[in-house]
Amino acid sequence: MRSLIDILELSTEEIGELIAVADDIRQNPAKYREACRGKKLATLFFEPSTRTRLSFEAAMYELGGNVLGFSEAQSSSASKGESVSDTVKVVSLYADIIAMRHPKEGAPLVASMKASVPVINAGDGGHNHPTQTLADLDTIWNEKGRLDNLTIGLCGDLKFGRTVHSLIAAMSRYENVKFILISPEELKLPSYVKRDILVKKGIPYEQTTDLEAAMPQLDILYMTRVQRERFFNEDDYVRLKDSYILTPAKLKNARQDLCIMHPLPRVNEISVAIDDDPRACYFKQALYGKYMRMALILKLLGVEV
Ligand code: NCD
Repeated sequence: MRSLIDILELSTEEIGELIAVADDIRQNPAKYREACRGKKLATLFFEPSTRTRLSFEAAMYELGGNVLGFSEAQSSSASKGESVSDTVKVVSLYADIIAMRHPKEGAPLVASMKASVPVINAGDGGHNHPTQTLADLDTIWNEKGRLDNLTIGLCGDLKFGRTVHSLIAAMSRYENVKFILISPEELKLPSYVKRDILVKKGIPYEQTTDLEAAMPQLDILYMTRVQRERFFNEDDYVRLKDSYILTPAKLKNARQDLCIMHPLPRVNEISVAIDDDPRACYFKQALYGKYMRMALILKLLGVEV
């Protein structure tokens, strides 16, 4: 039985297979409509979510399965003091697979050690978010036609942005990928990500505070929200929240084939005036995420179609 806690648990070959299955699902949805008949997905969300939870649920429904779960800690027995371990031991009795989001880093890992069904990390604190990365990889593959030979600008809250950490880990395995890390001083990429991935693998990267200067080099611009819920004090959040706002003027020196991504939700980081630019990929990205979650559920449940 396999869980997915960290994106590096999937080999690049397996990621290629998931992309191929997601593509087949998109082309031939009817073929998959009964694939998970009789199976149940539990979504245990101890933190807010729109896309991740609903796309998991839509994914399971489109595979013919059913969904149960909760969308906030207050409505679960966590509010009575139940441990994550006890919760997943019990949910394992009711469901065939679990998707869990939790504010504490490592909680889904602990859950996967206690559960008797596969556990998918749907975001753990400021740490990782492997299924967002699956959505991101599918977006890059479909929009750029490759996962190698790319210069990727990551902009915003690189400290607390878990999607950034998982994306860097995943992309570090493809040839000739370079990162430009664009953030305020206070929100730089954590040193453990730099040390354990970028430095260890000898991946080229630059750190800057200047988005516009970096722009002409970029194949991909991955914008992120400043993660208010991870700040210790509101004043720091208010000071940093609008550090980067992507406007049409800032795209002046961008490539014509730039792919603009954002895991969403967006607050102010991307002006709505960008939404109609053909380079804006963030709403497509949310759709790619559903197909990749369908492919992942099939893989972890061992369902052959
Ligand atoms: C992201 C998350 O939860 O980390 N959202 C998502 O899953 N698409 C990004 C964010 O909340 O800013």
